[in-house]
Amino acid sequence: MSTPRIVLLASGTGSLFEALANEQEAKGFKIVALITDAHVPALEIAQRFEIPTFIVPMTPERSVWDESMLMTLRSLHPDLVVSAGFMRILDPKIVDEFEGKLINTHPALSPEFPGAHAVRDALAAGVTVTGTTVHFVDAGVDTGAIIDQVSVEILPDDTQASLHERIKVQERILLVETVEKIISNKIKYENGSVITQ
Ligand code: GRF
Repeated sequence: MSTPRIVLLASGTGSLFEALANEQEAKGFKIVALITDAHVPALEIAQRFEIPTFIVPMTPERSVWDESMLMTLRSLHPDLVVSAGFMRILDPKIVDEFEGKLINTHPALSPEFPGAHAVRDALAAGVTVTGTTVHFVDAGVDTGAIIDQVSVEILPDDTQASLHERIKVQERILLVETVEKIISNKIKYENGSVITQ
C-alpha cells in the first residue's frame, strides 16, 4: 500500500502542522504539501521539512480563489486534507469533493464557540472548561461530524494567549492521534457520521 498523502492547510504559526511533520515518518504518512492563504510563519516550517508549499491568496472575486484552491488540492491527490488553523471557509464544491477526507481542528468543545474567536469567546463566557475538537468538515462553520475532543481547564489568571497555548498542547497530540487512526482505518466517515472500527 502506498504511503498516505496528506495536505495541510494553515494560515498562522503552523505549530500543529509542525507536530504532524515531526511524526510523519514514524506514523507512516507523508505531508506532500502545505497550502496557505498568505505569507505566514508556517511556510518556514515547511521549508525546514522540505515540504512543498502553495500560497493561494484570497482574490477580490471569491470564486477565483475557490477555483484555485480546488485545482491545487486536486493536483496533489491527497488521501487526507488537514485544516490546522486555516482561517478561510472552503467552498462547498471542495467540501463535497473531499468529503470524508477533510478534517479540521477547532480550539473549543464543539458545538460550543464556533468561528474564528473560540478561545476569546470561551474566556468571555466565563466557562471553567473548554478544549479542542477534531471533526470532519462539512458545509458549515466548525459543524462537521466530531471525531474526538479533549477538555482543557480554564485557569483564573488565563489570558487568551495562555489558554490557547494550553489548548494547542492538546491539539498537537490529538491531531497526530486522529490522523494515525484515519490512515489506519480505525476511523472512517460514512454518510456524515464517524465510524470507529
Ligand atoms: C489551532 O488552535 C487551531 O485549532 C485553530 O488555529 C490554531 C492553529 O495553531 N484553528 P498553529 O498555527 O498551528 O500554531
